[in-house]
Amino acid sequence: MISIAKPWITQDEKDAVLKVMDSGMIASGAVVSEFEQAFAGYVGARHGIATTSGTTALEVALRAMGVGPGDKVITTAYSFIASTNSILYAGARPVFVDIDPDTFNIDMDGLRAALKANPDAKALLVVHLFGQACNMDAVMALAGEHGVMVLEDCAQAHGAKWKGKQVGTFGDAAAYSFYPTKNMTTGEGGIVLTNRDDLADRARLLINHGMKIRYTHDILGYNYRMTNIAAAIGLEQLKRLDAFNAARRKNAAYYNAHIKNPAVQVPAVQPEAEHVYHQYTIRVKAGRRDALVKLFEAEGVGYGIFYPFSIPEQPCYKALGFETAWPATDTVKLEVLSIPVHPALTEAEVAAVATVIGKL
Ligand SMILES: Cc1ncc(COP(=O)(O)O)c(C=O)c1O
Repeated sequence: MISIAKPWITQDEKDAVLKVMDSGMIASGAVVSEFEQAFAGYVGARHGIATTSGTTALEVALRAMGVGPGDKVITTAYSFIASTNSILYAGARPVFVDIDPDTFNIDMDGLRAALKANPDAKALLVVHLFGQACNMDAVMALAGEHGVMVLEDCAQAHGAKWKGKQVGTFGDAAAYSFYPTKNMTTGEGGIVLTNRDDLADRARLLINHGMKIRYTHDILGYNYRMTNIAAAIGLEQLKRLDAFNAARRKNAAYYNAHIKNPAVQVPAVQPEAEHVYHQYTIRVKAGRRDALVKLFEAEGVGYGIFYPFSIPEQPCYKALGFETAWPATDTVKLEVLSIPVHPALTEAEVAAVATVIGKL
């Protein structure tokens, strides 16, 4: 079986975890601080606040930005549900925008229209889906014109770039996930990055029960703290993130060159974007996706359908009365198929996946 995802854990991660275990300081502590500084430094942000997950990082970032009940946050209709759940957790309401069917990211004309129609919007939450940056020139220009804050969901885009600059450094804040399928992992975990001192201070309060001075709780916070165990894994993974991403890009380049089936469209990459292929997501045309899925199952190729539904049509969102017809998303969701691209694949496995697609 060729797996769709696989965390790459070496003896270095195991040794680092054992060292933390032996230290007795297994909850949040110095190793977390070291990881926060290392990851923020890698991306090029001033502050890093590590959390329990990408989901909690998104929620903390929005709350730190002052997003709350009555506020509107403009975002994409097509992502993992956590992107938008974070808006609901903060008590705000998402305003959905359709995607560009080529990049799978939020559509810029749609974003412009949503900003015009919602002059009271407080923030934009853009998602760099599958590892490709949104057009951050356009996002930041629109945000500036309309005076709204920007949160970047970088859960799938560690190390991705727009015009040579890392995602996560454009907006007011960014959130990352370190779930095991991601470009690097800490087991479970996340981080908020920001260049703004005020947001960093507030995020740090929020993840630790609103506490700066021991047992004085200034605001209502949470326990969203990362553990030293997770951070120790993260420090080792971060050392290899560039190599992981290079391997993903190499695998993607092989697919780009070898997938020739006319029913299959390989991912479109904007010339300004350095894609890090959290997923390599093809579009299978003319109702042929099920046939390719059957072939994959017969030949032992792992795959994923990310995502089979738009967020607004999910049962828990439908009940909230959102528009459920999003033409580009509704087309793409029937065609997408993500194929193995992770760095632990062998050359023979990548070649085998391309060969199976050739049989369609
Ligand atoms: C785009 C996106 N946003 C947010 C998340 C949430 O991250 P986590 O699973 O670490 O909570 C994920 C990952 O699952 C994701 O893919």
